[in-house]
Amino acid sequence: MDYSKMKADFSRVFDRTDGALYFAPGRINLIGEHTDYNGGHVFPCAITLGTYAVAAKREDTQVRLLSLNFEDLGIISFDVADLEYRKADNWTNYPKGMLKFLKEAGHKIDQGMDILYWGNIPNGAGLSSSASIELLTGVVLADLFDLKLADLELILTGKQVENAFIGVNSGIMDQFAIGMGQKDMAILLDCNTLEYELVPVKLDGYTIVIMNTNKRRELADSKYNERRSECEQALAELQVELDVKSLGELDMVTFNEYRHLILNNTLVKRARHAVSENERTMLATKALKDGDLLTFGKLINQSHISLRDDYHVTGVELDMLVEKAWEQSGVLGARMTGAGFGGCAIAIVETVCVDTFIEHVGNAYAQKIGYPAAFYIANISDGAKTIKEE
Ligand code: GLA
Repeated sequence: MDYSKMKADFSRVFDRTDGALYFAPGRINLIGEHTDYNGGHVFPCAITLGTYAVAAKREDTQVRLLSLNFEDLGIISFDVADLEYRKADNWTNYPKGMLKFLKEAGHKIDQGMDILYWGNIPNGAGLSSSASIELLTGVVLADLFDLKLADLELILTGKQVENAFIGVNSGIMDQFAIGMGQKDMAILLDCNTLEYELVPVKLDGYTIVIMNTNKRRELADSKYNERRSECEQALAELQVELDVKSLGELDMVTFNEYRHLILNNTLVKRARHAVSENERTMLATKALKDGDLLTFGKLINQSHISLRDDYHVTGVELDMLVEKAWEQSGVLGARMTGAGFGGCAIAIVETVCVDTFIEHVGNAYAQKIGYPAAFYIANISDGAKTIKEE
């Protein structure tokens, strides 16, 4: 990353020569998909693809924001006291939401600011570019205004922006991974209690490859909210006899004993995914800790199958990438990652096989789907932070 270029852009755009630097990663999820809002476990990590900012306070009350990724939109500005959601404000609704909720929580932010953003997370690819912008903005605000802001408050504020400002009923995973990430570590998070554990990702001789379907996640948000309410309905039907607060509290044995309480077969499948995925996540974490990569890979494959057949959030593009990945030599496991319906999958590939892997899967995908996929190597990064310049 060329920091001097970004600082030069900041001074060109905002006509000033100061500004400090900040970074927030994107994330992948190794396993534990659609479990966060069901009170289960997730196992994500922050990645080196992310969003950068250069920022400085202003003497007036204007907030002026520009993204080098959407430079044609120009500077989008609003007053620090006028923080209503506006569709026309486009991507800046994410930073605006952070400002709004941090102020409402009592943090003193009474001056304007200039912020330049630039990110290398492919947009709309399910690698959490929006949570990255939220947490990045939080770190900027904490630094510029000297806020007493604990990591968890920052994370919960990001989630609040998605839920109450943008209107996506998402869980806590993305913001948590981006806020708490550490280099070369995955985070086992219990979404019920928010207790977490950092687990070293030791994949001797293997590399995590991100495979982007390049399919825009249209409809993703409404389908996402639909899955969430299907799970709530299934839980309500189980609660007629079972004393549980979330699907994450159930193991498969208990679920199978009581599943007859769920009347609709589709809802049985949705709930079965939530319960089985939670079990897989804990088993996969244990396998990784024990260095049992074969078991880890198998559980990753089973996760995809459950997301495809029970949760129904994959689609032809993700299935094509993952199923082709399974056929290649040197592959431990592959699955979709994130919300699904397009976006990205991951594969754990023997490092010496990565080039051939990308060639084979890439060719097969382009032939079948009619446009190319994209591939990136995932390196596991620290969470959102101020960048100290040398
Ligand atoms: C999106 C949401 C997360 C999580 C995943 C699915 O990334 O933002 O909260 O629910 O989908 O696991």
